[in-house]
Amino acid sequence: MKKGYFITGTDTGVGKTFVSCALLQAFADKGHRVGAMKPIAAGCEQTDDGWQNDDALLLLQHANIELSYQQVNPVALPSPIAPHLAVEHMKESVTIRKLTTHFENIKTSADYFMVEGAGGWQVPLNNNESMAAIPRAFGLDVILVVGIRLGCLNHALLSAAAIEQSGNHLAGWVANIIDPNTLMIEKNILTLKKKIDAPLLGVLPHMDTKEVHAASQQLDVELLLTLSDPV
Ligand SMILES: Nc1ncnc2c1ncn2[C@@H]1O[C@H](COP(=O)(O)OP(=O)(O)OP(=O)(O)O)[C@@H](O)[C@H]1O
Ligand SMILES: [Mg+2]
Repeated sequence: MKKGYFITGTDTGVGKTFVSCALLQAFADKGHRVGAMKPIAAGCEQTDDGWQNDDALLLLQHANIELSYQQVNPVALPSPIAPHLAVEHMKESVTIRKLTTHFENIKTSADYFMVEGAGGWQVPLNNNESMAAIPRAFGLDVILVVGIRLGCLNHALLSAAAIEQSGNHLAGWVANIIDPNTLMIEKNILTLKKKIDAPLLGVLPHMDTKEVHAASQQLDVELLLTLSDPV
């Protein structure tokens, strides 16, 4: 792996999966091998191949290397509840160490990896670890997806501050217009541009999220590549 990114967001449902897929597409279009992981997915459907989650299936679809469902999503939790509550009833514990071992086994298969978090930055993983420990353990930079809607300034600034304070590297952020009725969208984005100490990688309009290719063209992957040294 040359470089990997942990995709976090200002909340659940702000476009982490959409942005992850668009980034995978953008890197793939530049001729790179791209892989993805959703370490923990809460909210799955029973299939002939076991529990599967829509986010993980989308990530799998936009990776261009051979990965099995289980490699992309090792922990598939049936109910859409906070991971640490969902894992309470599991026979085996879910720890950062186990997830890291899993990632170490697949990371050499691609040049670039997108690892999607669950919920927002501080979501607990178990009683004493949080999802926020994943980027350091996996060796990833962080990309923050800001779901543009009323209240996003506070969520975005708190998230960016927490990411920096935890010693992680915020490689950039994406403005994803999930609510097109938000007032003064451009001014909100400009405010965040001034206050977040990381580059804006692109603005995704409110759009058909099947149009991943169109979304990928709005993201400045070159900027990401020039700013970050290979791991
Ligand atoms: N730019 C956009 N325009 C229109 N709809 C969007 C946009 N971005 C995301 N959506 C829609 O918003 C919903 C949430 O997006 P997405 O699944 O990518 O969020 P998420 O942060 O990954 O959520 P989760 O926390 O469940 O993983 C989806 O229905 C998606 O199609
Ligand atoms: Mg998602």
